[in-house]
This record gives sequence, C-alpha cells and structure tokens, in this order.
Amino acid sequence: MKIIKLTGTIGAEIHGVDVSKPLTPEMLAQIRQCLLDHCVIFFRDQTLTKEQQIAFVRQFGAISKSPVYKTLDSHPEIMPVIKEPTDRDIIGDTWHTDETYQETPPMGSVLYAREVPAVGGDTLWCNLYRAYETLSDGLKQQLEGMRAVHTNEFLTGNTAARNATRSTKLLETVGVNYVVHPVVRTHDETGRKCLFVNQPFTHAFEGMTRAESLPLLQYLYAHASKPENTCRFRWRKGSIAFWDNRCTMHYAINDYPGQRREMHRITLQGTRPV
Ligand code: SIN
Repeated sequence: MKIIKLTGTIGAEIHGVDVSKPLTPEMLAQIRQCLLDHCVIFFRDQTLTKEQQIAFVRQFGAISKSPVYKTLDSHPEIMPVIKEPTDRDIIGDTWHTDETYQETPPMGSVLYAREVPAVGGDTLWCNLYRAYETLSDGLKQQLEGMRAVHTNEFLTGNTAARNATRSTKLLETVGVNYVVHPVVRTHDETGRKCLFVNQPFTHAFEGMTRAESLPLLQYLYAHASKPENTCRFRWRKGSIAFWDNRCTMHYAINDYPGQRREMHRITLQGTRPV
C-alpha cells in the first residue's frame, strides 16, 4: 500500500489496494489510520458492484441511511448522487459536513464515481482541526463550551423547489428538525479538537438569535475554507473518496453544464458529538 499526500494539510491517495476484495486486518487498520491522519482518503481505478461497495464500507462500521434523501430501492444503503445533462442544480454545492442536523451525524461518507463529466465536477474538502487550531487563543476561548443549533430546514423547508431542479431527490415526507451540538468538537478517535459548524445546517448559537450568530458563523466558515486548508480532488470513473465527517467539510463544484455525473454515496454510523 502506497500513500501519496495531496497537500500539506489535508487529503491522501492510497494506491495498491483493490477494495472490491475483503481487506486483511492489517490493511483495514492502515486505511483507518490514513483516514485519521489525512481526514479524507482517495482510491483510484476501482471496479465495484453495488454489493462490493457496501461490503467495503461495512468493514469500517455500521452503515447509516440518509434521513432526507431517496436511496436505491434495491440497495437502501446507497444514496445516488446524480446530475443529468438537463439538470441545472446539484446537491452539496455549499461547504458542509454531512447530516449534522442529526443527533448522531455520520462518522464518515464513501463516495464512488460511476460516471463523471469529461471535465469539471471536482470536490473540495477542508480540515476542521486546522480551522480550529489556526484561530486566535481569544476566539478559541470564546468558542469553548458554546453550542449551536443545527437544522435540516435548508433541505426539508424547500423540498419541492429543490427537487424541481435536481435529480438527487429529497424524500417528500420529512419534517424540519433541530438538534444542538458543541461548536468545538473533540474527535472520538484522535482526541483532537475541531471546529464543528457548517453553513447549510448550523442555524444559530444556542441562546442567541440567528441574526446575532451570523457574523461570527460567517467568519468561521470563511476561515475554515481558506484555500490553504483545503484539497481538491479530480474524479475519474472508478475513483472513491472516503472522508472523516467528524473533522471535515466538503463542497461539490457545479461547473459541468450539459454533462452527466453519477456517484454512489454510503455513510457510516457516527456518535453524538462532544
Ligand atoms: C455530497 O455532498 O455528499 C456530494 C459530494 C459530491 O457530489 O462530490
């Protein structure tokens, strides 16, 4: 197994592994450590059936199902992320951490590229450990102990409008929900602190109005997604991205009008952020 870093701050490609086959305990431990070290890891040129993608992900933990998006009838573990050539919009084109409107957001997500545009459709990730670590001591102190309300309202409050221009469909029956998470999260495996707010799902700081919260939230979003804190991945058919959803945000770029992109996403069950 060969590990090649994408940048000095986040992301690594893993070469020399065929993930369609069961992993040995040593390989599994190495891949997990690589994920913990680099926050998002990538594999190239993988040929997987749906069952093989599910089996690969299951080796890292229990699979969780999207609470808001439609999944495949034949394989409910898989959420198709699709843009048809005629679609205007995609999902994921804001910096976000997956499903933080849940009490227990996913620990990780695994996205497999089944069809990619000839050019465009890259995805960016940013490192939320580094986002926290590069704040001033004064702001770190201010954020310590603060909590924020997260909600799915950005999605479920706009279901019909979103579904009208996207092929990745929201379920029509999901209501709006609110949960509270710490603003600075301690990663349950590495013990490191990271910033844990994101633009589409963080509504406000606990005990404050949204208007009062937004200036600081917007500063934190901009700080976290500075270019030097990010990596950009150019997909090819058969590429896999596996991100640690506890300490990253990601951004899908909608820059391929008239082209088709089909990805299959599987998420891993997480724990309650503390
Ligand atoms: C997502 O936000 O899960 C989708 C990412 C992508 O399509 O690249």
